Amino acid sequence: MNALELNTVRLSEDRSCLEILDQTLLPGTVKVLQIEKAEDIFEAIRYLRVRGAPAIGVCAGYGIALLASRIETQDYETFLERFLEQKTYLASSRPTAVNLFWALDRMERTLRTHADRPVGEIKEILFAEAQAIRDEDVAISRSIGEIGFGLLKPGDGILTHCNAGTLATAKYGTATAPMYMALEHGMKDFRVYCDETRPLLQGARLTAFELQGAGIDTTLICDNMASTVMKSGLVNLVFVGCDRVAANGDTANKIGTSGVAVLARHYGIPFYVCAPSSTIDMTLAAGEQIPIEERAAEEVTEMWYKERMAPEGVKVYNPAFDVTDHSLITGIITEKGLCRAPFGQAFKELGIG
Ligand code: MRU
Repeated sequence: MNALELNTVRLSEDRSCLEILDQTLLPGTVKVLQIEKAEDIFEAIRYLRVRGAPAIGVCAGYGIALLASRIETQDYETFLERFLEQKTYLASSRPTAVNLFWALDRMERTLRTHADRPVGEIKEILFAEAQAIRDEDVAISRSIGEIGFGLLKPGDGILTHCNAGTLATAKYGTATAPMYMALEHGMKDFRVYCDETRPLLQGARLTAFELQGAGIDTTLICDNMASTVMKSGLVNLVFVGCDRVAANGDTANKIGTSGVAVLARHYGIPFYVCAPSSTIDMTLAAGEQIPIEERAAEEVTEMWYKERMAPEGVKVYNPAFDVTDHSLITGIITEKGLCRAPFGQAFKELGIG
């Protein structure tokens, strides 16, 4: 199965529903859900049926356009009020990936910019804007991929964490985009180590699935094996994605990423964050200000096991993301260019924020 041919999320042709590839069922089952209600869109994001920062943004854009199209009024003020209610609701589905808020804010701005148009026309404009968010995401991933490909050489061993792949975006992924671009350029001589990524196994279920399907030399490791593969020289480069980057370059990504960065520094391995500029939140000065999602204890104790793997009643701490200090990051690859420290200045030079 070539994952590049799968659509993570899209609007149905007749624009009556969202079609979401249910990532909780991968890799065993490829199933597309058709959803149309606000509660179902919220649930799909909350329970990671659609996940990964850019894909969440694309889903939110399509979702709010769909919900707006159902608002039955010709009155602009009433339309805006109902739109904002739905927006607030969708925005409460997950807290860390800034793309969710970025996409919803962009949709609101589009609506307000066209306040002088009839409501029916605004609905059409919102659908077009959601489509633009999706199309831009593909182009952004390709640009990140081309820049990242420039850092690759034949024989490289790359480690990646979680899934910042095509499944986490509209296409190509961010951390995986350099790998897909390498294939397009005819370079096959590299290998990828995927951290399984406890507790929700995005690395094992999703990254290994999509890279193997693309014909890339893929090896799955448990998270606690990263030190060994680095020490033994199997890995000489790390590419990861991100959910939110603060103005100083501190980066929130899937829990475990900061540990990979510490190891990479220890072994002298370059550590690159692949970040669409929409993921860079210049309103936050540093990583401590990034809200970190905490998820249910069951994800750690039983979710992927045939039977519970922890004593009943044990306390569980399950933060979904961690923050990698900017000092551990070799470079942040955006679609506009490769940023090196000091990151705040580099972002400004590229016109980000
Ligand atoms: O909880 P998830 O699966 O949504 O977390 C995803 C990640 O942490 C990704 O690395 C990040 O969103 C970047 S996706 C291009």
